[in-house]
Amino acid sequence: MSEHSVIRVESLSKTYDSGFQALKNVDLQIRRGEIFALLGPNGAGKTTLISVICGLVNASTGQVLVAGHDNVREYRRARSLIGLVPQELTSEAFSTVWDTVSFSRGLFGKPRDPAHIERVLRSLSLWDKRRNRLITLSGGMKRRVLIAKALAHEPEILFLDEPTAGVDVELRRDMWEVVRGLRERGVTIILTTHYIEEAEEMADRIGVIRAGELVLVEEKRELMRQLGRKELTLQLREPLERLPEALDGRRLTLSEDGQALIYTYETRRNGDDQTGIAELLADLDAAGIRFKDLHTRQSSLEEIFVSLVREEA
Ligand SMILES: Nc1ncnc2c1ncn2[C@@H]1O[C@H](COP(=O)(O)OP(=O)(O)OP(=O)(O)O)[C@@H](O)[C@H]1O
Ligand SMILES: [Mg+2]
Repeated sequence: MSEHSVIRVESLSKTYDSGFQALKNVDLQIRRGEIFALLGPNGAGKTTLISVICGLVNASTGQVLVAGHDNVREYRRARSLIGLVPQELTSEAFSTVWDTVSFSRGLFGKPRDPAHIERVLRSLSLWDKRRNRLITLSGGMKRRVLIAKALAHEPEILFLDEPTAGVDVELRRDMWEVVRGLRERGVTIILTTHYIEEAEEMADRIGVIRAGELVLVEEKRELMRQLGRKELTLQLREPLERLPEALDGRRLTLSEDGQALIYTYETRRNGDDQTGIAELLADLDAAGIRFKDLHTRQSSLEEIFVSLVREEA
């Protein structure tokens, strides 16, 4: 296997006992140290995929390797490398923050390490709450406790299933900080989210899942390049029959009715006017082409995402 892939998912399918197929032949490799965001609408299969990788739900076909360990045959080994922050809040309502988090570490057979637990609680601003019973905490605090629990055994890979669903903007920012800090320490992070902005801000790569199929896996930067693509439409005073030769070799097309010129350009180049618009307008002027109106249009990651998930399978 590639030494960079810390997780390898191969031809994974999952059909629940109900007969519902939640995952369809998913192949995915997660690189060591990256932040991978899994985007998809409700019911797409995000939680199912995570649950199968973590060994909580068994696959119908296919396999998962975690750092080279088969997650079924070498379950304990594979699971010990993983921390999971589940989507649902589970309540051990009456234990304290400290006990809950320490207990989690013990579950993985790790020796007690109060200094580590303290570091984790401090990094999540939970230190002052360590003696509180969970039942006395706000929803956002409980979510932090879930993260603390997942980090208690020092996992190399952290799964966060909708970590910021329903939390306020400030807490969301805090969580992003925590996640970045973990990445700096070399932890690989896979998160699911409905928030495009979260994927944009955090992820190195983005995967889009729709109706159990992984329909796209792409570098965030590449998606942003597409996001940065704009279209300029110039409504002409006089229709043209074809593009003048002087304007050949540009990203310029003539509309079918000859009434408009359409120019595509990228907005996220370094430098100021890398769009070429100023030049284009000068050349149009020189060629005696006049226009009466113009407008621009931008494709966004949101649009790309929406069009991907809306197309019915
Ligand atoms: N235990 C189960 N038995 C039968 N069907 C299930 C089970 N768990 C999930 N499903 C179905 O599998 C599909 C995928 O569910 P899953 O929870 O993985 O989606 P999700 O992408 O995490 O959605 P959300 O964004 O709402 O969390 C859904 O149609 C769901 O109803
Ligand atoms: Mg889910």
